[in-house]
Amino acid sequence: MEKQLYKNVNLSDPLDRVDGRLKVTGAAKYSAEYMLPGLTYGVLVSSTIAKGQIKSIDTKQAGKAPGVLDVITHLNAPKIPGYQTVQNTPEGPATSRPLWVFYNEYIYFSGQPIALVVADTYERALYGASLVKAEYIIEEHRTEFNANVNRAVTPKGWKDYSRGEADAYLNAPVKIEHEYVIPVEVHNPMELHCTIALWETGDKVTVYDKTQGVKSTQKTIMDAFKLPEQNVQVNTLFMGGGFGSGLRTWPHVIAAVLAAKKLNKPVKLMLSRDQMFTMVGFRPRCLQKIGIGATADGKITGITHEATAVTSSYEEFTERTINMSKYMYASPNVTTRYRIVPLNLSTPTWMRGPGESTGAFALECAMDEMSYALHLDPMEFRLRNYAETDQERNLPWSSKHLRECYEIGAERIGWSKRNPKPGTMREGEMLVGYGMGSGVFNASRNRAVVLARILADGALVLQSAVSDGGPGTATSMVQIASETMGINADRIKFELGNSSYPMGPTQGGSTTTSTLGSAVHDACVALRKKLLTLTQTPSIKNAEQDNLVFKDGAFTLASDHSIKVSYTEILKQQNLPQLEVTEESKSGEERQKFSMYSFSVHFTEAHVHPATGVVKVKRVVSVTDAGRIVSLKTAESQVIGGVIGGIGMALMEEAVMDHRYGRYVNNNLADYHIPVHADIPHIEPIFINKKDLYINPMGTKGLGEISMVGFAPALANAVYHATGKRIRELPITPDKLL
Ligand code: MOS
Repeated sequence: MEKQLYKNVNLSDPLDRVDGRLKVTGAAKYSAEYMLPGLTYGVLVSSTIAKGQIKSIDTKQAGKAPGVLDVITHLNAPKIPGYQTVQNTPEGPATSRPLWVFYNEYIYFSGQPIALVVADTYERALYGASLVKAEYIIEEHRTEFNANVNRAVTPKGWKDYSRGEADAYLNAPVKIEHEYVIPVEVHNPMELHCTIALWETGDKVTVYDKTQGVKSTQKTIMDAFKLPEQNVQVNTLFMGGGFGSGLRTWPHVIAAVLAAKKLNKPVKLMLSRDQMFTMVGFRPRCLQKIGIGATADGKITGITHEATAVTSSYEEFTERTINMSKYMYASPNVTTRYRIVPLNLSTPTWMRGPGESTGAFALECAMDEMSYALHLDPMEFRLRNYAETDQERNLPWSSKHLRECYEIGAERIGWSKRNPKPGTMREGEMLVGYGMGSGVFNASRNRAVVLARILADGALVLQSAVSDGGPGTATSMVQIASETMGINADRIKFELGNSSYPMGPTQGGSTTTSTLGSAVHDACVALRKKLLTLTQTPSIKNAEQDNLVFKDGAFTLASDHSIKVSYTEILKQQNLPQLEVTEESKSGEERQKFSMYSFSVHFTEAHVHPATGVVKVKRVVSVTDAGRIVSLKTAESQVIGGVIGGIGMALMEEAVMDHRYGRYVNNNLADYHIPVHADIPHIEPIFINKKDLYINPMGTKGLGEISMVGFAPALANAVYHATGKRIRELPITPDKLL
C-alpha cells in the first residue's frame, strides 16, 4: 500500500500478460517444438582444439550408425553462395565477419562446429556425432586475457575521446585510480537455441528459430542463400529468454538451413547447453581502469575511463563500455580509451545491458570509492556532480529525473539510517551494508511498421514482424492500442513472430516499446482518422480534435456524451467486413536537438556472513526514470528480472576456462551459477512515470537495460560498506571476502 505513494495516479491499469495463460499452461509453442512431418535431427560436432586446422575428418563410423542420414563437414558441404562473395580472412579480426560454418579447415576456437550429423531421431544423431573423429594440425592458441593484454588494439573506426584536458584527474587535489575486472559471462536463457528448417521448394525456405529479430534472421538467410525476401519465412512465436544471445543469426542457423537443403528434408538443430557457451556469444571479459579527480569539496575535475575487452580472432566485437563516463557526471575533463584483444574465442555479443552494465560496474564503484576518499556520502557526491546537461554532446536532456530517483530510493531503503563507516552495522552475526549505483541507457527509437485492422465485430488485430524474448511485447502493445483506439484490451490481438508481417524491429537495446509502440500508436491514429472520414454523423465527423473522445469502441463528444458512434456501426453503414491501415513510424530531427537517455538508481541492503563470506541480498529498491510506463505489470517484471541479472553478475556468474585447452569447464547450469529463488530478495520497482514526448508519442523511454545497469556496483558497494573490503573483480564469491 505504501508503495502507491510513489506511483503516479495516471499509471495504466495493470494488465495481465496477454500470452500468460499460454505460457504457464505449456500451450505456447517454442521454436524447438514444431513436429513437422518427416522431421530429422541434426547434432553439431565441435572442435576439440582452439586453434589450427582440420587435417582429416573421419565420418565413416558415424555415417554407418543406425538412423544416420548424413554427416556434413567442410569437405562435402554445398557451397553457401553468400560466403563466396567476400574474401576469406583467416587471421586478423574484421569488423563484421561471422564465422562461416563448414567453410574450410581453419579452427578459430574450441567448440567451433566442424560437422553436423543428421539422423532420424535426436538420440541417433547424438550417438552418430560421438563417432566423428577429427585429426588436427594444432597451433598454439591464445585464450588468456592477462597474458595477451599487451596485444590489445584500438578497434577499427574507434578513436580515443578527450574533453578538456587529457587525464586531468592526475593533477586533482583528491584523486583515486583503480582497476576493475569482469569475467566472461554467458546469457544462458532457459530455452536452448534451436532452428528447424524446411525447404518448401528448391528456392523457398521456412525456418522456426529462436531469434530476437525475425526480420534480421530472414535477411541473414536471404544473403547467405541468395534468396528474395518472399522466399524466406522466419517464425519465432515464443521465446524462453534471450538476453542478447538471439540478437545475431549464428552459424548453427545457417547449418540447419544448409542441411535441410542438402537432405531435402526438414532438419531440427538444437544446441546443447555446453554449445550455448561457445556458439551464441557471451559478455566479453573486460579490464577497466578508472581515475577520478575532484576538488576537496567534491566537485569532479576529471574522469579517465579505460577499458580493454576480449574479442575473437576473426571478428571485432565492440560495445559502449566507456561511454557512460562521458556524460553521466558533470566534469570539464573526460578521457576515454577503448581497446580489444583478439583471442581464440568465439565472437562475444551484446548481453543484458551491453556495454553500460560493464562500464557502470567500474564507474559506479569508482564513484563510491571517491566518495569515501572525500568523506562524503555516496549519494551526496553524485548530487554535487549531477549533470544538468549532456556535456558530451553539448545538448539538453530530452528528460532526466534522476534526482527524484535518488531521493525516492534513498527514502525507501532508509539510506539515512546508514552509518557511513564501513563494517559498523550488524544484524545478529551478519555484517550489514547499504550500497547504491546508477544506471543509464540510450533511449533509442528505430523504424517500425504496423498493420492495424478493425473487424466488423469491433475486434482489433495488429501485426508486426517483431519477436518477444520475454518482456511481454504483445501485452504492452495491446495497452498502447487500447488507449489510443479506446477499445478494451480483451478485444485486441497483437500478432508477432512472423517475418511476413510488416517490418518490425529486432528486440534489443531497450527500444521495442519506443520503436514498435510508436508504430502501434500511429497506426491506431490513422485507423481512427479513416473511420472518422467514413462517419455519417456530422457532429462527430466535424468535431474539433480536442472535443473528440475515443472510448468503448466508439467516437463520443467530450461536450455531449449522448452523441456517440461506434466503430462497428461505421463499418456496418459502409458495408465493410473490416478496415485496415499500415503505418510506418520512425524518429526525426528531435534526436539532434536533445540527448535521450533512461536513468535508474538501485539501492540495496546486503548482509555478509563474517566467517564464511557468504553474501545475502536482503532488499532492493530500484527507481527508474524510463519515461511514461505503459504497462505496469510487464514493466515491474523487467525491473525484477534486470535486478536478478545484476545479482548474478555481482555474486555468481563467471565462465571459467581451462586455458590449456581453451575450453570452458563450467559449461552447464550446475556449475555456471545464476541466482535461484532463494537468492532473490524482495525487489521493489518504483517508476517516476513522467512522459518524455520528445522521444515518441507515448512518452516512453527504454526500460530493459537500466533495470540491470548499475545494480552490480550497488551490491559491490553494499558489500564494501558491510565489510570494509573492496572487491574490484566480479563475481564477489566468498573466497574473495575471506
Ligand atoms: Mo539486449 S542485450 O539488447 O537483448
